[in-house]
Amino acid sequence: MSMSVAELEAARRDPVVFADVMIGRPLWPHQVEVVRSEARYRVICAGRRAGKSHVYGVLALHTAFSRPGMKALIVSAGEVAAKRLFAEVSKMAKAPRLGGSTEDETTSTLILSNGSTIECVPSSAKQVRSAEADLLIVDEAGFVPQDIWESAEPVVLARPGSRVLLSSTPWGALGHFFRQLWRQGMATPDRWVQSWHWPSSVSPLVDVEFLEQIRKRSAPDYFDREYLAKWTDDGSAYFPMAELEGAVADYALLPPEEATGWPAVAGVDWGFKRDANALVLVSVLDDGLLNADRHPDSPVFFVPWLEQEHQLPYAQFVDRVVRVGEYRKGAWDGQNGYWLPWVLAEENGPGEPAVQALRQAARARWGRSTPVRGVWTTNRLKVNGYGALRLLIQQGRMVLPRHPELLKQLHALQTEMLPGGGMRIEVPDNVGHDDLADALMQCMASVRTGPMWRRTELNEEGFSTRSSGEERMTGAGTRLLSEPVPLDFTQAFRSPRAGDGEDDW
Ligand SMILES: Nc1ncnc2c1ncn2[C@@H]1O[C@H](COP(=O)(O)OP(=O)(O)OP(=O)(O)O)[C@@H](O)[C@H]1O
Ligand SMILES: [Mg+2]
Repeated sequence: MSMSVAELEAARRDPVVFADVMIGRPLWPHQVEVVRSEARYRVICAGRRAGKSHVYGVLALHTAFSRPGMKALIVSAGEVAAKRLFAEVSKMAKAPRLGGSTEDETTSTLILSNGSTIECVPSSAKQVRSAEADLLIVDEAGFVPQDIWESAEPVVLARPGSRVLLSSTPWGALGHFFRQLWRQGMATPDRWVQSWHWPSSVSPLVDVEFLEQIRKRSAPDYFDREYLAKWTDDGSAYFPMAELEGAVADYALLPPEEATGWPAVAGVDWGFKRDANALVLVSVLDDGLLNADRHPDSPVFFVPWLEQEHQLPYAQFVDRVVRVGEYRKGAWDGQNGYWLPWVLAEENGPGEPAVQALRQAARARWGRSTPVRGVWTTNRLKVNGYGALRLLIQQGRMVLPRHPELLKQLHALQTEMLPGGGMRIEVPDNVGHDDLADALMQCMASVRTGPMWRRTELNEEGFSTRSSGEERMTGAGTRLLSEPVPLDFTQAFRSPRAGDGEDDW
């Protein structure tokens, strides 16, 4: 597989040739337009599966390959997405002709043999603010906070010849940098800013039938954003975008493997054939005295961990949930995990055997009376569960991670007033793509939202928290540390009110 000098030179100069001969996968025409563009800012408003990750990988690798000592930085909105992109780019770098790359998994950095690097980080990472890079790629840019962009952008632009590639599904207020630059590059493209609109259908692998199937089982707003890449306004969204942004903070999720018995309630949503299985945990935030002035008589909650597993048989997901909650108080083997006083799992239709299996597995492995509750998700339950969540959000007492998928799912919930004056949260039954939102909603059946004595641990200095890291703040002003841990405060949870069809709050 040797290459001629001329071929190698062409690959060095042109990312399109590079993709073809070095990676072995020619770019699609819509991808070619972007990599061939001369614009310093290239902005893509894109739908799912449109070929973003692939084009990021090609451009980052090409930049690194073209000259020694180059640096490409890929910023994702959240930790999970950053890790996934790193895996995708690493895989691409292993193309036989590129070979010779080394990886540092711990820092998510790929180093080519010429000394060039490609780094994949979440927007919360410190290095983003002082991001010197020849190529800056921002994935799900609509979800990256404005202040992080404002500190990173000048550093990148100071580097001669540097380029910026922004892409996102539609998200962000009018003044947000992604939305502004995208509009500018659509309206008046020039050598400074150029924009593209990539609905999912630009991909030759996405056909009309596939899209139609997804449309049928998605909330309309979700489909429009995710697959048509259309900007929709708040309309009748139950959670307006600004309200959600107000609850979001950049903090590190706490993997179950590193948890040592922190208490959390768990919500489980089964995916079955089409959707993902989802697990979301809610805990009391160990915020020391950071919020004691704003919330003197009530705790702040947060999501310490969440995960989604696509196409996993439910029996395996049951094992996963049990593993997450495996911590045993006083166990000699020091088993890590969360301590789950309650697990709330969707029991509708095909959920019943799954809940049974979860109950049995929990009893067998946790060795205590079962804290698993099956929940029938009726309209009333949703109104109550999402209502409780919204109340906490509006009070500044629920902190959400910067997790685009969760935020988009919450934002896609529509409301409808019923003739009798009631309210309906419009998610037709068995609709997909609300798994994370639903799992979070399930948790709320066990969360006490009312005022209660706020437990704070004091030491000699009068302040103590086991959370660590830098101070962060949600859009609405709730304070926390960047590596928060749950407070051991099980009184904040109650025996779930949702039992069966008769008793849904
Ligand atoms: N130029 C190409 N040639 C062949 N296959 C491609 C090309 N670009 C992308 N693909 C394939 O198309 C699929 C979607 O591409 P990719 O993962 O890059 O899209 P995405 O926009 O990042 O999707 P997602 O929304 O899921 O993150 C993948 O299976 C990828 O391997
Ligand atoms: Mg992708």
